[in-house]
Amino acid sequence: MKITTKINLLTTAWLFCILLIINVVVFFSFMTTTVNMEKNVLLQKTNDIIQELHTQNATTLPEDRLKSYLTEHSFIRIVSPDSKVTNQAISDKDLAEKIKYKFSSKSGSQLRTIRDEGGEEQVLIVRVPIMSHKHVIGTLEIGERLMGLEMSKDILVTILAFCTVIAVVLSLLGGRWLSNIIMRPIANMIQTMEDIERSGIPKTIMLHNRTRDELEKLATTFNLMIKRLQENSEKQKQFISDASHELKTPLTVIRSYANLIRRRGIQNEEITVEAIEAIHAEATRMQRMAEALLDLAASEKEMVLEIKSLDLISLCQSILQQFRNVYKREFIFHYSQDPIIVKADELKIKQVIIILLDNAIKYSSDKIEMFLEQNEDDVVIRVKDYGIGIPNKEIQHIFERFYRVDKARSRETGGTGLGLAIAKNIMKQHKGEIKIRSEEGKGTEVELFIPAS
Ligand SMILES: Nc1ncnc2c1ncn2[C@@H]1O[C@H](COP(=O)(O)OP(=O)(O)OP(=O)(O)O)[C@@H](O)[C@H]1O
Ligand SMILES: [Mg+2]
Repeated sequence: MKITTKINLLTTAWLFCILLIINVVVFFSFMTTTVNMEKNVLLQKTNDIIQELHTQNATTLPEDRLKSYLTEHSFIRIVSPDSKVTNQAISDKDLAEKIKYKFSSKSGSQLRTIRDEGGEEQVLIVRVPIMSHKHVIGTLEIGERLMGLEMSKDILVTILAFCTVIAVVLSLLGGRWLSNIIMRPIANMIQTMEDIERSGIPKTIMLHNRTRDELEKLATTFNLMIKRLQENSEKQKQFISDASHELKTPLTVIRSYANLIRRRGIQNEEITVEAIEAIHAEATRMQRMAEALLDLAASEKEMVLEIKSLDLISLCQSILQQFRNVYKREFIFHYSQDPIIVKADELKIKQVIIILLDNAIKYSSDKIEMFLEQNEDDVVIRVKDYGIGIPNKEIQHIFERFYRVDKARSRETGGTGLGLAIAKNIMKQHKGEIKIRSEEGKGTEVELFIPAS
């Protein structure tokens, strides 16, 4: 069942219940008020008759006097204490026969239902004792068919039923109309999602007018999600095209050298050695690139970091010692205090530092300096070299994947252009930052900011 139909049916059922309760209250209030009014009229009549008996100092009245108090369908009787009718006037014989006379020393009224060919009818009977010298000498009894009440009751029931039906119909129609208005944006969203599902192309929902409600928020969130998916899919496409392009170059080199050996044969030792050297270099490069690509993919995944307290000074010292052992270069380490502790993933931070030192080694030949500073908000690791530097206009691109300033030179140094992209991702995962300052011909300084724990 559609949600609009569900809401519509539920609200209408609820409205029907409310109307039913109201109808019952109205009906019973009407009935009691009307009966009470009739009762008051009859009591007034009994008062008048008793008054007349007292003024005439009699126990009965002449029949025509009593008749003057009668209405069309009623009777008046005086019943003595020995339960005998001493005086009566009747305008409705049938009624008088159906209601048995009764002596009563207490005032009271009674509503009775009688049946005849016309159906059911309500009869109101009022009994009032007649007193003389503090003794009850008889009961004055007046009975009357409530003809008007039956009719009014029928009219009232018809009106209430009619109004209830109209209200239910209006509620159903109005509910449908209102829920259509409310559900229109949702229908719009469903349509868009179905389109996406059918075509496989992400697309946003058109927001026609600003309603500032939950539905608009839903649509905006959906659009943001789609935008993010589009961006991701763009990035992925770009990555695949970059990666395949980068892998194609070494493959072309390998193939052309292999062809060369095929054509010239292995007899020519000089060419063979050159070809084997080139094939080996390119294969190594490809292997390195594949490793770097895997690293990059891992750094781009929103993966869980193994955050632990990390002593940066001992980490930097151990990395520098390894570098000193492998590269016969001068590495100088400066730090502002000891210890400097951060909360971070040790392996990832180590990877970033190695990427920076690797660049400094590749693109400089002088000493390499490393600075470690503790600030109020963050810890800064700086790697500084005095090498070739980066031209100003290139700096904005060097965090892009596969970007290398000097492609030919990078070929010699074996760079893939992925190091800084990986470093940037890792810093982003740590909610930190990476900044670079460089002057062509003078040197480069890369700064890592890790939030203080
Ligand atoms: N310290 C530096 N001095 C001069 N140029 C640098 C320095 N660091 C980076 N660059 C320039 O930025 C480019 C991108 O650096 P990145 O580390 O991302 O790639 P790469 O070093 O070429 O390859 P790899 O993936 O092996 O690190 C380099 O090719 C280089 O041109
Ligand atoms: Mg590098």
